[in-house]
Amino acid sequence: MSTRMKSGIAYEKMADVESSKGESLLKPQKYYRCILIITCLTAVLLMMFSLQTLLIPSILTSGLKKNAPITHTCSDTCRLVLLESIPVGVEFNSSVGHPSIYQAWRSLLSEAQSTLDIASFYWTLTNEDTHTHEPTANLGEEIMQELVEISGKISVRIAVNTPQDSQPQRDIQMLIDAGADVRDVNMRDLTSGVLHTKFWVVDKKHIYIGSANMDWRSLTQVKELGAVVYDCKCLADDLGKIFEAYWFLGESKTIPAPWPSQYATAFNKDTPMQLQINGSDSRVYLSSSPPSLCAEGRTPDLQAIVSVINDAQKFVYIAVMNYLPTMEFPLSKRRYWADIDTELRRVAYERTIHVRLLISCWNSTSAVMFPFLRSLASVQDSKSNLDIQVKIFIVPSSPSQKEIPFARVNHNKYMVTDRVAYIGTSNWSGDYFVNTAGAALVVNQTSTSSSESTVREQLQAVFERDWDSPYSTPLNQDSNLEQICEM
Ligand SMILES: *[C@@H]1O[C@H](CO)[C@@H](O)[C@H](O)[C@H]1NC(C)=O
Ligand SMILES: *[C@@H]1O[C@H](CO)[C@@H](O)[C@H](O)[C@H]1NC(C)=O
Ligand SMILES: *[C@@H]1O[C@H](CO)[C@@H](O)[C@H](O)[C@H]1NC(C)=O
Ligand SMILES: *[C@@H]1O[C@H](CO)[C@@H](O)[C@H](O)[C@H]1NC(C)=O
Ligand SMILES: *[C@@H]1O[C@H](CO)[C@@H](O)[C@H](O)[C@H]1NC(C)=O
Repeated sequence: MSTRMKSGIAYEKMADVESSKGESLLKPQKYYRCILIITCLTAVLLMMFSLQTLLIPSILTSGLKKNAPITHTCSDTCRLVLLESIPVGVEFNSSVGHPSIYQAWRSLLSEAQSTLDIASFYWTLTNEDTHTHEPTANLGEEIMQELVEISGKISVRIAVNTPQDSQPQRDIQMLIDAGADVRDVNMRDLTSGVLHTKFWVVDKKHIYIGSANMDWRSLTQVKELGAVVYDCKCLADDLGKIFEAYWFLGESKTIPAPWPSQYATAFNKDTPMQLQINGSDSRVYLSSSPPSLCAEGRTPDLQAIVSVINDAQKFVYIAVMNYLPTMEFPLSKRRYWADIDTELRRVAYERTIHVRLLISCWNSTSAVMFPFLRSLASVQDSKSNLDIQVKIFIVPSSPSQKEIPFARVNHNKYMVTDRVAYIGTSNWSGDYFVNTAGAALVVNQTSTSSSESTVREQLQAVFERDWDSPYSTPLNQDSNLEQICEM
C-alpha cells in the first residue's frame, strides 16, 4: 500500500519534470548544449526512478506477502524464561514455579550496557500513592532505585501513557531528573484509548513482556505472568519497532497512515520468525493493538488471538483478568463486541475443543462480566461433546492486605493451547483490541523435536496448577459471586 502510494508520487514528479523540460526547449539556441546535458541527466534520473519504483515494491511484497515461501531464520540462540509474581500469602501445593518478575527485572538491569527502552501504562514503583509504609513495597522501590542509577549511565527511554492529573508522577519525575528520556503518549487524544503495553527492550537483544505494570504491587501483591527472552536480537529488534512507534507517537498529534517503512515488519502470523528457544525449534511473532498502531506486516492482537484459538486441536486455556464480550468504555454507551466470544463457542461446537477460562474478580469487577461468563460456562454437555468451563480465581487477603488499593488480584493475560503459547498485556474486552495499545508474544513450537520442555508445556503447567488449586472456584448458575468476590 505505502509503496504503491510512494510510486504514485514519483510518477507525478516525473510528469512535472517532463513539462518543464518541454518549456526549456523553446529557449534560444545558445542554451541548447546546456539543455541537452540537463535532458540527459533528467533521463538518467528518470531511469533510476523507474527502477526504484519497479524493484522496491516487488522486494517488499515478496517479503510480506501471505504464505510467501520465504523463511525468516534467526541464528540467535534465544533463552526464554517464564516469570511469575505470586502475591505474598498465596501458596500452591505444586512443584510448578518460575523465577519472579522482580528477579528478571533485576537481572536485566544488571545486564544492561547501553540502552533500556520501557513501554508502560503508569508508574507507582515507590508506593507514594498509598500513603502507607507497606513493607512489601520494598521490591518496587529497589527496582526504582536501580532505574534511577542506570538512567545516569546508559540511554533510558520511557514511553508512558499520558498521566492524568490524579495519577502520581513522582517516579517519572525522579527518572527524568536522573537523565532518562520520557515521552507521554496521549492515546486518549490519538485513539480514545490508553497505552496499556508493558515491555522492556534491553541493549537491543533482551526483552521482557507480560502483565506486570511498573507498580510495586505487581511484584508482591498482584498475581502476574510474563516472559523474559535473553540473547534474542531478532525478537528485540522487532519489539523495538513497536517501541519506536510509541516513541514517535509521544511527539506526534496524529497516527501516521500508513506508518513509514522503518516500522514495518516481516514477522507475523503467516511468516513468523524461526528461531531456537532453549534449543527447541520455534516460530515466534509479536502482535500489537490497536490496528491503527500496526505498521505494514504486523499482525493485530485480535487476529493473533483468533488464529491461536482456531489452530487448537484439543484445548484452549485462557487466563485473563477481565473477559467481556462488550466494550467497557464509554460507560455512557453500551456496545456488544463478541469477536473472541464467538470464536470460542465456534471451536467448542464445530471442533469439540475443550475451552477453559480462568477469570479474576475483586471488589471493583464490573458485575456485567458474570452473566456473560455464565452464558459461556453453560455451553457444557458431555453427550453433545460441548465443553466450555469457567472458573474464578480469587487471591485471598488478610484484613491488612484488603486495605491495599488495587491489589490482591490475578492479573494474568495469557492463553495456552495444545499447540501454542500466547503471552499478552491486554484484558479481554473490546476496548483492548479497538483503541487501547497492547502487545503479545506468540510462541509456536509444534515442530520441535527437542526433548527439552517447551514454553508451551510450562505455560500449560502453570494454568493447570492454578485451575486445580483451591483458589479457583467453578462458575455456574448458582455461584454466589458476592461471596466469592467480596463485591
Ligand atoms: C499436596 O499434593 C500432594 C500430591 O498431590 C498430596 O498428597 C498432599 O496431600 C497435598 N497437600 C496438601 C496440604 O494439600
Ligand atoms: C504453528 O506452526 C505450524 C507449523 O509448524 C503451523 O502450521 C500453524 O499454523 C502455527 N500455528 C499458529 C497459531 O500460528
Ligand atoms: C475494595 O477494596 C479496597 C482495597 O483493595 C478497599 O479500600 C475498598 O474499601 C473495597 N471496597 C469495597 C466496596 O469493599
Ligand atoms: C484490566 O482491567 C481492570 C479493570 O477494568 C483494570 O483495573 C486494569 O488496569 C486492566 N489491566 C491492566 C493491566 O491494567
Ligand atoms: C530455558 O533455559 C533456562 C535456563 O537457562 C530455564 O530457566 C528456562 O526454564 C528454560 N525455558 C524453557 C522454556 O525451557
